[in-house]
Amino acid sequence: MNTVQPIPRPGPVPVELAPGVHWVGALDPGLRVFDVILRTANGTSYNSYAVRGSGGVAVIDTVKAEFSDAFFAQLEQVARYDEITALVLNHLEPDHTGAVAELLRRAPQARIHVAPRGLDMLRALLKDDFADYQVVKVRTGDTADLGDRTLRFLTTPYVHWPETQCTYLEEQEILFTCDLMGCHFCDERLFNDAVGDFRFSFEYYFDHIMRPFRRHVSEALDLIEPLAISAIAPAHGPVLRSHPREYITHYRRLLTKRLASEVAQKTLLIFYVSAYGATSQMAAAVAEGASENPDVRVSLFDLAVGEVAPFVDLIEEADGIVLGTPTINGDAVKTVWDLLASLVDIETKGKLGGAFGSYGWTGEAVAMVESRLQGLKMRVPVKGIRIKLHPTLPELEDCRDYGRQLSAHLTGTAEPREIDFASL
Ligand SMILES: Cc1cc2nc3c(=O)[nH]c(=O)nc-3n(C[C@H](O)[C@H](O)[C@H](O)COP(=O)(O)O)c2cc1C
Ligand SMILES: [Fe+2]
Ligand SMILES: [Fe+2]
Repeated sequence: MNTVQPIPRPGPVPVELAPGVHWVGALDPGLRVFDVILRTANGTSYNSYAVRGSGGVAVIDTVKAEFSDAFFAQLEQVARYDEITALVLNHLEPDHTGAVAELLRRAPQARIHVAPRGLDMLRALLKDDFADYQVVKVRTGDTADLGDRTLRFLTTPYVHWPETQCTYLEEQEILFTCDLMGCHFCDERLFNDAVGDFRFSFEYYFDHIMRPFRRHVSEALDLIEPLAISAIAPAHGPVLRSHPREYITHYRRLLTKRLASEVAQKTLLIFYVSAYGATSQMAAAVAEGASENPDVRVSLFDLAVGEVAPFVDLIEEADGIVLGTPTINGDAVKTVWDLLASLVDIETKGKLGGAFGSYGWTGEAVAMVESRLQGLKMRVPVKGIRIKLHPTLPELEDCRDYGRQLSAHLTGTAEPREIDFASL
């Protein structure tokens, strides 16, 4: 049999990060796919933390439901349930809230600290029990007092979900970031200076979890950067206690434009696939027309030559994309769908989009692609062009004109749309 058998080990033990601050999370070394879309080459961890102050204990995030036993076993080693005065929920996704309902049953006096946008999610999580607990909505600057320890909250929406926040332990300068600066990397040695090489996991996690929310991540870093930080304690992967600031700097680098464009022009990328050359002729004509505008830098790519992944970086920086596809069996060509599917990792809202293609009899592909572009919240200001079989010279001129119109929309020089009042 080819299954990997784990070496039997005793359960994890609480790990002290600083006096009174413990990791009480769970290791999940067997996980290979996370949230359906992410590969996890050596599993992950669900990091939960307990912070003890002279006036009470705070628990920051919990674990995925299946790992509740490990979590409670560890928590009980560092605190009694009646000592828990605060439960901080930095993120309501199930990988961090799987033990919340049970924890509240055991520590009903704990006040739940959650960002305002987490309230409805918390209600959905706790169902009828919600009314039994005290919930505090916290915003940037609000604090929770643990006697000689203070937790300060930073509202950081969309550093995965809308309700995400970070929590800063003022006296010990530890920042609990939940998904932000986390990664799926399972290593019981816990600290970044002790674990294996997790650079790949860190960037892979950024690419798939944080990159679609680039602007929000940047705003979160604006809040974080002024803080004095001794350690960053995320909810997945290593605790970053050695050179924590370098991880913030690295996030900044990952957020800034990957390909600094050496030109000040708007950028339009034209991608196409073509079986018999008709759509490729259209693509060349669209590119010609668009290039007449000196303020637009036009690039033309044949998707038939390879994989789509390398184009995702280009599209992230581009102002507009146009996709050319023939209709094959009533559909756009798979490579075009592959490219569109890979755009979930980047922000596409507001970019210009367009589609064109040759067809034989039904020609659905162009409208299907346009509708997907709109689904990605792109604007599609010019109706796409369909041409039956190979284009004639006048039809190629129509394609050039289509390109000209796209460029005009990119540079803000498009003619205002003529409204046909008769059709209203
Ligand atoms: C296998 C195959 C299936 C096709 N299915 C459709 C179809 O469902 N609807 C349609 O309008 N045209 C269909 N066509 C016709 C193509 O869209 C047409 O030949 C087009 O001009 C090809 O453009 P290209 O030269 O850019 O590949 C099909 C062509 C092939 C080869
Ligand atoms: Fe998440
Ligand atoms: Fe998570």
